[in-house]
Amino acid sequence: MKKTVLSGIRPTGNLHLGNYFGAVRSFVKMQHDYNCFFFIADIHSLTTHPTPENLQAGVKQVLAEYLACGIDPDVATIYIQSDVPEVTELYTYLNMNAYLGELERTTSFKDKARQQPDNVNAGLLTYPVLMAADIIIHKANFVPVGKDQEQNLEMARKFAKRFNHMYNHRVFPMPKPYTFDGKDMVKVPGLDGSGKMGKSEGNGIYLYEDPADIRKKVMRAVTDSGPTQPNQKKPEPIENLFTLMKIVSSPDVVAFFDEQYNNCAIRYGDMKKQLAEDIISFTSPIRERILEIRDNDAYLAKVASEGAERARVSARKTLDEVRKVMGIKRLF
Ligand code: ADP
Ligand code: TRP
Repeated sequence: MKKTVLSGIRPTGNLHLGNYFGAVRSFVKMQHDYNCFFFIADIHSLTTHPTPENLQAGVKQVLAEYLACGIDPDVATIYIQSDVPEVTELYTYLNMNAYLGELERTTSFKDKARQQPDNVNAGLLTYPVLMAADIIIHKANFVPVGKDQEQNLEMARKFAKRFNHMYNHRVFPMPKPYTFDGKDMVKVPGLDGSGKMGKSEGNGIYLYEDPADIRKKVMRAVTDSGPTQPNQKKPEPIENLFTLMKIVSSPDVVAFFDEQYNNCAIRYGDMKKQLAEDIISFTSPIRERILEIRDNDAYLAKVASEGAERARVSARKTLDEVRKVMGIKRLF
């Protein structure tokens, strides 16, 4: 039997290169060999209080972008989280076994609490519990996500294991991270000197972005005054430029600039021009497909409702089992 894969993205803006190379390219690669569920985590995005208009626009955009990236709704199940209420029921049950201390210690909670000190809501605290419910409701074996989600995935395993142990039934398998090349989980860097590329970091290069804007962003990337000694270790902003180049450019292009760096002959301007063109060659066909699909409301609605139907069948099956082992299902 095929193993199950699940992953999701919050609809808080357009997909960027971090989302694509951290997660979405794995979705596209895995869809034919696994039983795949890809969803839009609209309930998760409520922690930051989007307006109803922004939420709707975000959901539609991410749906169109998933499809434009090559996820095929005939083979993978694509759905919107809020269309599957079984998820929030499981979330309620899992909350009874999630402890304040462990939730407060989660890095993503601490970061968010720092970023939005006036809105440290309970949804933010229990974010990893909802994410665990998303994953285990379909008994997922693999979860393709970027490095930033490693801890949340660890929490999902912890909650699944705790449930199995408490009720003495092996209801849930342990969900493992899936990496594209079988190596480390990916972290796509931003080009602003340090850290990851992200929507909240404000340093995203988007799949939907206009080529002229991509060129501008890449040309503004932080660099330094250049190496002064042969084979010098690269400082973080330069390493980041190379990391991104390794992702989008061919190996000989990377080798060329690497050699230039090691000989202290590198011209960052030339490297950035090349990087911008390689990003644009990658994003342009996706951008065209997004433009084709995103106004086709009838098609998007059909994909979403068929996906919801399939996801609910799978979720219902697990929830029936969960209710039974918990003693919630009426047996008399
Ligand atoms: P963002 O971080 O832009 O707000 P999300 O948190 O919704 O995006 O992330 C959606 C998916 O994209 C997750 O699997 C996450 O790990 C992945 N992802 C986001 N940014 C990066 C990045 N810079 N590198 C690798 N993966 C990333
Ligand atoms: N927390 C993920 C993020 O911010 C999104 C997400 C929600 C997710 N539920 C999930 C990812 C389940 C994988 C599996 O990126």
